Amino acid sequence: MNDMSETAGGATTHTLTVTDNATGQRLELPVRQGTEGPRVADIRRLYSDLGIFTYDPGFTATGSCESKITFIDGDEGVLLHRGYAIEELAEHSDFLEVCFLLLYGHLPDKAEKEDFEQTISMHTMVHEQMRTFFSGFRRDAHPMAIMVGVVGAMSAFYHDSTDIDDPYQRMVASHRLIAKIPTIAAMAYKYSIGQPFMYPRNELRYAENFLHMTFNVPCEDKPVSPVLARAMDRIFILHADHEQNASTSTVRLAGSSGANPFACIAAGIASLWGPAHGGANEAVLNMLREIGSKDRIPEFLKRARDRDDPFRLMGFGHRVYKNYDPRAAVLKKSTDSVLDELGVRNEPLLELALELERIAGEDEYFQQRKLFPNVDFYSGILLQAMGFPTSMFTVLFALARTVGWIAQWKEMIEDPVQKIGRPRQLYTGEARRPFVPLDER
Ligand code: SDX
Repeated sequence: MNDMSETAGGATTHTLTVTDNATGQRLELPVRQGTEGPRVADIRRLYSDLGIFTYDPGFTATGSCESKITFIDGDEGVLLHRGYAIEELAEHSDFLEVCFLLLYGHLPDKAEKEDFEQTISMHTMVHEQMRTFFSGFRRDAHPMAIMVGVVGAMSAFYHDSTDIDDPYQRMVASHRLIAKIPTIAAMAYKYSIGQPFMYPRNELRYAENFLHMTFNVPCEDKPVSPVLARAMDRIFILHADHEQNASTSTVRLAGSSGANPFACIAAGIASLWGPAHGGANEAVLNMLREIGSKDRIPEFLKRARDRDDPFRLMGFGHRVYKNYDPRAAVLKKSTDSVLDELGVRNEPLLELALELERIAGEDEYFQQRKLFPNVDFYSGILLQAMGFPTSMFTVLFALARTVGWIAQWKEMIEDPVQKIGRPRQLYTGEARRPFVPLDER
């Protein structure tokens, strides 16, 4: 029998009495309050004591774990990483500092920061043989397909950091993934445009190094624009982690079986690719291009409202945020200033997006369902202005989210309560029936 008191955090505030009216059986479920957010009813006894499963497709009201990494208040539009608001981190921190914060739970002091930056810089190269993987892909392969393949293959090269029970190997794997994911992402882009790969440079900072590997060529070594590097770093911060979203839950579930961290992150990349999740940033740009002009906005909003039409307004709505996504607010603000600094005047797609947001915001359908722009609504416009093709947008999301995935994976492995994830179901198929031989069917 599970020791139900075995929950590291959260104080039991009271109990929830459940009565099975079919049998009259009653059960007291402990209710716990965390630091912030809704209380949770610990239902682990429900099946063992009452023989009843819970049923919650899409996990709309189900906590899968206890976590100390990120907290979202969807009603208030609040996002905290280890207690620090995303707006403050985007304004005052940098991505590697946020990586340290997510991994280790506190902002690094000067020595810790320098040591972490040095460690990551020293791991940015990939095994030379990994370069041959790319030539197996068609040049027009979607870069997310390449990312899933190449990141998954890392477990074929870095055997000395696949033992998940060894804290040192877990740390090395975490550092390798954070350090090498930009190199692999840049290689996926270079391969798609037929340009040679660029090696990372140890003297460059993280986002600057990524832009160097992506946009520089061997025949000239242009310095990376500090404006672009700062914008890239901020975009990485805004995409770093987000509680138990679909791809993070995928990583946790894959990791709960003891799969190695590289395989788990590859699974997360695959899940993020979906247009309902991280693939939405690419889908937003494609949607804006399809809308084309402001006078066609009502036509697309009509389609979005039509339940018989599968079209949804990409970049709008969120499972948790029923208010403006704070990341979208930061991106919207920085898009303006970065376009300005890049000398991009009156970007038509930005004008169209702002008008779309204005009209949707006045539409009863969107108001009633509290559908606001999410992180993906403005990110693509900024990324396009920075020179990235639409097909690279979700790759950049995966690059940034790798630290969130690995921090959540590490927390899951180190959680004394964790066990292999194995959801149950409500079975509504056929009852047992005898086999029918072919000549009697
Ligand atoms: C990300 O989980 C995370 O944290 C994800 C993420 C992260 O950082 O990891 O924040 C990143 O994935 C952001 C979301 C990116 N996806 C999109 O922009 C795709 C468009 N959005 C929708 O597909 C949708 O809003 C979801 C998938 C994001 C959320 O879907 P839910 O929570 O399952 O909501 P729902 O489908 O139950 O919608 C509730 C109602 C429905 O209408 P009714 O049945 O009540 O009539 O709202 C409608 C939906 O039809 N609705 C939309 C809509 N989103 C929801 N209608 C039109 N356009 C939309 N975008």
